[in-house]
Amino acid sequence: MSKNIDSVLNENRVFPPSEAFTARAALRTPEEYARLHRWSVEQPEAFWAEQAEGLDWFRKWDRVRNWDNPPFAKWFEGGRINAAFNCLDRHLAERGDKVAIQWEGEPGTAEDRRALTYRDLHREVCVFANVLKARGVGKGDTVAIYMPLVPELAIAMLACARIGAVHSIIFGGFSAPALVDRITDASSKVVVTADGGWRRGQVVPLKHIVDDALKNTPTVTSCIVLKRTGQAVEMVPGRDVWWDAATAGVSSECPAEELDAEHPLFILYTSGSTGKPKGILHTTGGYLLGAQLTTRYVFDLRHEDVYWCTADIGWVTGHSYVVYGPLANGATVLMYEGAPNYPGPDRFWEIVARYKVSIFYTAPTAIRAFIKWGDAEPAKHDLSSLRVLGSVGEPINPEAWMWYHRVIGGERCPIVDTWWQTETGSIAITPLPGITPTKPGSATFPFFGIDAAVVDDKGNELPNGQGGFLVIRQPWPSMLRTLWGDDERFRDVYWKRFAEQGYYLAGDGAVRDQDGYFWILGRIDDVLNVSGHRLSTMEVESALVGHDAVVEAAVVGFNHEIKGEGVAAFVTLGVGAVKTDALKDLLKRHVRDTIGAIAAPDQIHFTDSLPKTRSGKIMRRLLRDVANGVESKGDMSTLEDLNILAKLREEED
Ligand code: WTA
Repeated sequence: MSKNIDSVLNENRVFPPSEAFTARAALRTPEEYARLHRWSVEQPEAFWAEQAEGLDWFRKWDRVRNWDNPPFAKWFEGGRINAAFNCLDRHLAERGDKVAIQWEGEPGTAEDRRALTYRDLHREVCVFANVLKARGVGKGDTVAIYMPLVPELAIAMLACARIGAVHSIIFGGFSAPALVDRITDASSKVVVTADGGWRRGQVVPLKHIVDDALKNTPTVTSCIVLKRTGQAVEMVPGRDVWWDAATAGVSSECPAEELDAEHPLFILYTSGSTGKPKGILHTTGGYLLGAQLTTRYVFDLRHEDVYWCTADIGWVTGHSYVVYGPLANGATVLMYEGAPNYPGPDRFWEIVARYKVSIFYTAPTAIRAFIKWGDAEPAKHDLSSLRVLGSVGEPINPEAWMWYHRVIGGERCPIVDTWWQTETGSIAITPLPGITPTKPGSATFPFFGIDAAVVDDKGNELPNGQGGFLVIRQPWPSMLRTLWGDDERFRDVYWKRFAEQGYYLAGDGAVRDQDGYFWILGRIDDVLNVSGHRLSTMEVESALVGHDAVVEAAVVGFNHEIKGEGVAAFVTLGVGAVKTDALKDLLKRHVRDTIGAIAAPDQIHFTDSLPKTRSGKIMRRLLRDVANGVESKGDMSTLEDLNILAKLREEED
């Protein structure tokens, strides 16, 4: 039996960037990409030393890269730097009055629109940094941040960075037990939160949830509470203080600490499919350089752009591409607090038109929802300000890509399908918008410094056309440094499999096509094994989504007497399509015709929604249990909506 993945994709559409786009782009020719990429992997120290000049250092490094003790990398040793200084202070002279954050709250009233210039943001960050200091937070202390998507969230994180405290942001949708785990693991002293946050017109009672959690977190001595929604909350005297009260009259003088390049910048927890969440640790210099450089080149960022990444700051995408990357480049960042369909399903497009957003970066799960809501919603608004579109978080099915290109991009905007992970810190495989001819569904080529490859289970590079493990063969500046407090698990999860070669295991399957393009095939753990053929979830799902009636699909294996694993497909239909047995047969035939009999689903389940993580990734593990008719075990804390699972099971009865 083959251990590799049998890739069956056959996507032939190619979209080169327009001449007009390329003419103005920062990077323009495939030769330029090839030269820079070769330089970056063959002489990483020289390459990165030159790129690091794009940041402001208090003291330059003694050594660019230290890989003496793998898998523990060090970058820019001896260098001294501060991330908040790079995101704020260095822009003040030239663009102090430029809008850094344009914020829009969910309710959309006049008070829900705020513009903070770089000067404003700098002042607020300094004040809040002094508040943290006054509450006993010093260099190396960890601060938990559990907030809605408001400017104060960015202010709190930059304030930590300014004084060398380590932020640990916990997404505002997590429950009290998830907070307890994360606060305890990081030994956070201070929690920064809000009374509540808006989500689809409802208040999420954040402070109330924090109160529950703090019953079980002895390390926390202080809780700072921003007033956002105005509902009544309990304040514990001595422990809790309102943001406004804490900041009133506080000095806005706060020098940025001159930190070691390897000083921890943040911890961000990601859930593995089993076991407790992993505290991904990022440090200052290398991380910031990765975020800054990728934002500049991947989005072709220009001074006049209005840049909107729709991710919550509670995910790594928000860390790198709402805060550190764009601010390190002095960009104008749009930040929107709420849901994409509140008050109406055209909310995002209304915002794009109002603020003339030019760069828009979102997730496939959102794109599939837009498709479901219909073309009429974006058509209500003028989207002509858009010039670059991005996608991140999951493989984007070619048909969803085509819709994004046509309906949102007006067939004029390059789409950057960016592959990366919390662990990589910044975008790792991606088109460059002025250069790369894109293919719908492919993340295309590695970014500078990323020595990516597709290998078999022995670590040998596979020829084009054969699917296998995605690895990165040498360290890069923005890579995670370890798992907080657990070096052993860090080795086990990412480095053990290809220990001999010293390769980083991404955990995803991938294949390169005849032109060398990378296609991400989904998580290795989700690969199906049908009659000895290993099939990627992405390819079968993309075939289903290619049918007009289907907007979203998830495919999993289930125990099958003859085939080993059969193919079970969970399918969400678009408006107007009717759930009939005839349609099931049609879809089975459609998959057989597009990719072959081996991939034809044995089971098709119609469902109105799929179980997803809170960041929008499909949880195939739970669907596997449904298809196999067994109870689900393991961590469910990341599941967005528990009811979906119950509903799916009901539909089986
Ligand atoms: C998946 C999000 C295909 C992948 C930045 C990866 C993608 C995991 C893409 C990391 C993409 C992310 N195409 N798959 N463009 N982007 N993924 O840590 O499985 O939340 O390993 O980081 O998301 O998810 P994380």
